[in-house]
Amino acid sequence: MRTFTRRAIPALALGAAACATPVAARGQSLHALAAAKGMRFGAAMPHRALGDGLYLDLLRSECGLIVSENEHKWAAIQPAQGVFNFAPADAMMAWAAENGLAYRGHTLVWHHVQWLPRWVNEYQFGANPAAEAEALLRAHVTTVAQRYRGRISSWDAINEAVDHTDGAIRETVFTRALGKEAANDLIFHIAREALPNEQLVYNDYMSWEAHSTTHRNGVLRLLEGFKARGVPVDALGVQAHIGSANTDNSVGFATQNEREWRRFLDEVTAMGYDLLITELDVHDRTLPADVAARDAEMARYLRGYLDLMFSYRQLKDVLAWGMADHYSWLQERWLRDDRAPKRPTPYDAALQPKPMREAIAAAFDAAAPR
Ligand code: G3I
Repeated sequence: MRTFTRRAIPALALGAAACATPVAARGQSLHALAAAKGMRFGAAMPHRALGDGLYLDLLRSECGLIVSENEHKWAAIQPAQGVFNFAPADAMMAWAAENGLAYRGHTLVWHHVQWLPRWVNEYQFGANPAAEAEALLRAHVTTVAQRYRGRISSWDAINEAVDHTDGAIRETVFTRALGKEAANDLIFHIAREALPNEQLVYNDYMSWEAHSTTHRNGVLRLLEGFKARGVPVDALGVQAHIGSANTDNSVGFATQNEREWRRFLDEVTAMGYDLLITELDVHDRTLPADVAARDAEMARYLRGYLDLMFSYRQLKDVLAWGMADHYSWLQERWLRDDRAPKRPTPYDAALQPKPMREAIAAAFDAAAPR
């Protein structure tokens, strides 16, 4: 028979009580706390979650908006030329609509060779490559954007067009045919034609960590170029996969990195862009095995990050990249040395809230209204 330490008993009892009580009844939901400040809270979900009633209960009780983790991506939605597979995304959006949840779009073009479908990467553009490339982009972006018009009010029109290693715009079939800047500009122009009133977002993973300086500078140059050329971009999506360098003492608050990150956000917002946190999670690959210590450190780090981000009134939407640990993409990559499951999200694999959930709640509570 299993025995419990003195410390474990209260936690277990709390867990059991929490199990019997719907999340929303334990206090205000994260979305309600966000909404009180003119903000929104939501999460990514994969299609398979539709078969997981308990997880859907959690999403329903904590979130005000949902984003498809993969199902709106080009490779998923147009896997072969002219062959569109809307069914998975449509089913997820139907569930969200039935439950009164708003929806974000991710992403019209993941402008990165690794994540474009192979048929696009291998496409032969013929004698007039610029016209052919534009036609291909137009067919995809317009079809997807128009299908969801009126149901998706914010789109990551482009994801990750900047190479973090050198800060340059990534090369793809489209940049080779059209030019690096022109290809990215065109995607936003086509999106705007289909979506005159929707929020169009440039989404990327630049961060405040020292190794991200080149990436940040590249994103700044891209955003400056968009502004100078009158490209219709409304906001920067900050993915916020934070914590990956959390053994590096130079990363954190009141450091050079924080000052540089603020300077970056200051420059972005000074150009008139809004901000979103689009893919929030905390990586615990190098944190101690002890769960309580790990959770406490992650909550502390997350709270500091959110306080910093929420000091920008331009930031209104926060989306977690998964609400429970067993739904996190980080479980499969960069394994911990001890092979222990990671804890990157606000709820554990038993769907119990963790200190990170409270950190998000407290940060919304402390945020100035917008
Ligand atoms: O659907 C297939 C399945 O049929 C197959 O059996 C299985 C075998 O590996 O793969 C499944 O596809 C995987 C898919 O996730 C669905 O689980 C892909 O291999 C895998 O590459 C894909 O990973 C996603 C990744 O983007 C690439 O699209 C992650 O779930 C998703 O969390 C991640 O999300 C990205 C954002 O879009 C952009 N920002 C970074 C973020 C994290 O990488």
